[in-house]
Amino acid sequence: MKGIILAGGKGTRLYPMTRVVSKQLLPVYDKPLVYYPLSLLMLAGLRDILVISTPEDLPQFRRLLGSGEQWGVRFAYAEQDQPRGLAHAFLVAAQYLAGEPACLILGDNLFYGHGLPDLLRQSAQLRQGALIFAYQVKEPQRYGVVELDAQGRPVSIEEKPARPKSRYAVPGLYFYDGRVVEFAAMLKPSARGELEITDLNRLYLERGELQVRILGRGIAWLDAGTPESLLQAAEFVHAVQERQGVMVACPEEIAYRMGYISREQLCDLSRHLGDNSYRDYLLRLAEEG
Ligand code: G1P
Repeated sequence: MKGIILAGGKGTRLYPMTRVVSKQLLPVYDKPLVYYPLSLLMLAGLRDILVISTPEDLPQFRRLLGSGEQWGVRFAYAEQDQPRGLAHAFLVAAQYLAGEPACLILGDNLFYGHGLPDLLRQSAQLRQGALIFAYQVKEPQRYGVVELDAQGRPVSIEEKPARPKSRYAVPGLYFYDGRVVEFAAMLKPSARGELEITDLNRLYLERGELQVRILGRGIAWLDAGTPESLLQAAEFVHAVQERQGVMVACPEEIAYRMGYISREQLCDLSRHLGDNSYRDYLLRLAEEG
């Protein structure tokens, strides 16, 4: 399975913050927003990751993330020239995926919680159908909404419905089998002119091949699409890190703990970071062994 981070869009809900800087490069407390979804893909065990962004912003992502070698993974980059919708990412990624299953994560979605790495690793084993998640929220009408029957099987899925049929929002983390490009190519643009991820999920649902797992209360799902939610995400990360003394979404740490890089490589990485608490954290990790 290959990973895709979709970090496109104009970020107009965050203007003027995002006038000249991509939303996914804005800080969430002490690191760029894109580190959070990226860390999630790494925790899922995925090592081939495609970063999709706009032609203007893509060079910045390349500068930030490089080839991936430093973290024991492989990054590739592709442009999405216009905001053509989330499902359009699969058309951009068609060649890259070459028929392999894929995990898509939205560049502004942040997940944290107990049991998440195991859940991710299991999900990355998917070879048939699609797998999405359901998360109870106060304002489901802001999201894709999935309705479940008593057995937890999906009944319907709608994009930002005025009258949501359930309180379960669909977070921006999706797992698909090798047919995803073919299915994405069958979609028609919605009223707002985009290929909707919800329509793609509905294709799988209609074939009886959509699995939904509920993310429980022990897991935090945050998106950082508005000034308010960006601040909330930063406060959340700050609170967890200050209290526990561990970092949320530190790619160097994940690479080290996954065995992708050695202790020496970790020390080496820290040397290029300048004098700051992020570096001190990496050095401490290396010392602890
Ligand atoms: C998108 C999807 C929506 C999903 C949400 C998760 O909405 O269209 O189905 O629930 O991401 O963050 P957007 O935030 O792009 O409006």
